Parts: sequence; structure tokens; C-alpha cells
Amino acid sequence: MSRIPLPYNPKVMELFRNPKNLGKLDDATIVAVAGNPACGDMITFYLKINEQTYVIEKAQFESYGCAANIATSSIVTEMIKGLTLKATWTDITWQKVTEEIGGLPSVKFHCGVLAVGALKRAIRKYFNAHGGEPAWMPKENTFEEKQALEEEELANTLSKRLKSEEEKSP
Ligand code: FES
Repeated sequence: MSRIPLPYNPKVMELFRNPKNLGKLDDATIVAVAGNPACGDMITFYLKINEQTYVIEKAQFESYGCAANIATSSIVTEMIKGLTLKATWTDITWQKVTEEIGGLPSVKFHCGVLAVGALKRAIRKYFNAHGGEPAWMPKENTFEEKQALEEEELANTLSKRLKSEEEKSP
């Protein structure tokens, strides 16, 4: 069966082919992963944070997701460089990232949501490891963080189901 290619815009294709800030960051202050290695849709953010000013000095990523995930993660790393953690938290939403990239096919919105979910997880993780969450950070997970968790739970359920089907088959 042939597949119809998704209508990605040229900016998405360019960032997919030549992603900026791709790869591990050895001097990262915080590293956060979102997604599920079992299904391959996984993203890791590496942030180098100035611990006096809370400014993000460097941001890199690794992604095993699709073109939309790679492109959105790449643009996220560009958008957040030089921002404080607070500004990053409040300004970077999946809608803004999707807009910045020139739009995504609606079936691919969740890939951008996953990228922002990983970013917010990294920021929350940083504060949890450094004296607790600040007053401006909501106690409850944001939409993007919840979506990342849901995708992880769904992927886990599917991979368990597949494993048990495999074990049952002769
Ligand atoms: S990251 Fe899974 S389909 Fe895009």
C-alpha cells in the first residue's frame, strides 16, 4: 500500500534535513527525556543554564521522532537560547512553536506538543533538583506535560500488549 506524503512546509523540511543544535550537550545543567523508546518517538533536551541569572545559555536536543518532532525540537532550541527559565516557561507553547515553524499538518500537532512537553519537563526537573519550584510555576502539569505523559502511558500499554501477543503466538 502506498503512503501519501504529509504536506510539510519548506521550513519544516529544511529543519528536518539540517536540524540546528542536534546532539548531546556535555556540559548540560539539566537533561530531560519525553516519549517512549519502545515506539521510537523519543526526545531529549539538554539545557545549559546560568545558575545566577537562570538564563538558558545553550540548548541542544536528540530526537528519534518524526520530521515534525525533529523540526519543532530544533526550532525550540533556537527560540529559548538567551531566555530566562521563567520567560521560556510562559512564552513557549506548542501553538507558538507550531506558528514559528510555519504550521504543521493537524495529525502532527502532537509531535510539537511532545517537544514542548519535554522542554517544560526539563525546567520543572531543574527546579525540583535545585530547591523547589518557584511561585510562578503551576503545581499542576501543563497541557504539554500531560500530553507527554499520556503518550508515554499509551506507548507503554501498546508495547506490553504487543509483547504479550508475541508470547502467546506459537
Ligand atoms: S513524534 Fe511520533 S509521529 Fe511525530
